[in-house]
Amino acid sequence: MEIIRTVDQLRERVDAQRAAGREVGLVPTMGALHEGHISLVERARRENDFVVVSVFVNPTQFNNATDLATYPRTEEADCEKLAAAGVDVAFIPTVDEMYPAPDERVFDLGEVAEVMEGPMRPGHFNGVAQVVSKLFMFARPTRAYFGEKDFQQIAVIRRMVELEGFDIEIVDCPIKRADDGLALSSRNVRLTPEQRAVAPMIHRILAESVAMAPGKSVAEVKKSVIDAINAVDHMEVEYYEIVHPLTMQPVNDWKDNPVGCITVYCGDVRLIDNIKYRTQE
Ligand code: PAF
Repeated sequence: MEIIRTVDQLRERVDAQRAAGREVGLVPTMGALHEGHISLVERARRENDFVVVSVFVNPTQFNNATDLATYPRTEEADCEKLAAAGVDVAFIPTVDEMYPAPDERVFDLGEVAEVMEGPMRPGHFNGVAQVVSKLFMFARPTRAYFGEKDFQQIAVIRRMVELEGFDIEIVDCPIKRADDGLALSSRNVRLTPEQRAVAPMIHRILAESVAMAPGKSVAEVKKSVIDAINAVDHMEVEYYEIVHPLTMQPVNDWKDNPVGCITVYCGDVRLIDNIKYRTQE
């Protein structure tokens, strides 16, 4: 595996691949890689001739300086995992390389960015759109892979792709969970043993709510999820919304297979997760 730190070198490598008629898969990450990321890499490996993984903690998407400063950075271990997964190029730029000048682009992300993470983390999605659009311009992949844990982020990226006219297939990949159900996240390492022990309750309670949904209203299910999670030690729900799977707008009924998206503070660690209410084929 080659480690590339400059945009020029990345362009050179992927241009040569495309010129040879080979398909390029891109997996954008912020590092601190776990099995969830590796499952995206493995899928990219199966579906493309050449695989690029970017490892870049993007400052423009953090609206909280402490979160940016404490975000885990584990480059050496990340590179070992990527090499073992058969990646061709790890693109690991500096902040100056990605942003030689401040990025002042403001994306018209529309309704998908106006709910949930949008108001909770002002500027976050614009920062995601900035960095992902740059990665798409530099790597010009055939396909790009994103995890469904960040369900709303995928809708935002699809919107950015539509705005910018990128001819790139966005591939969404299922959430990877620990054996006890906790969604894998780079932030999980910050949980204390007591918090880690209760964190799987998020998925357990969401899964139970799917079973209860057919006989209840959306408002009742929402309330029962919030109450049940808030009753667990160390946990406080920031929001729970049951939304349309494409528009991200809150729904009032179970048609269109809505998705429940949750953010929970477990101590001071912000965990996100979601669940599909498959009510229609
Ligand atoms: O999901 C993430 O890890 C980040 O938001 C992404 C897509 C790599 C952009 O920095």
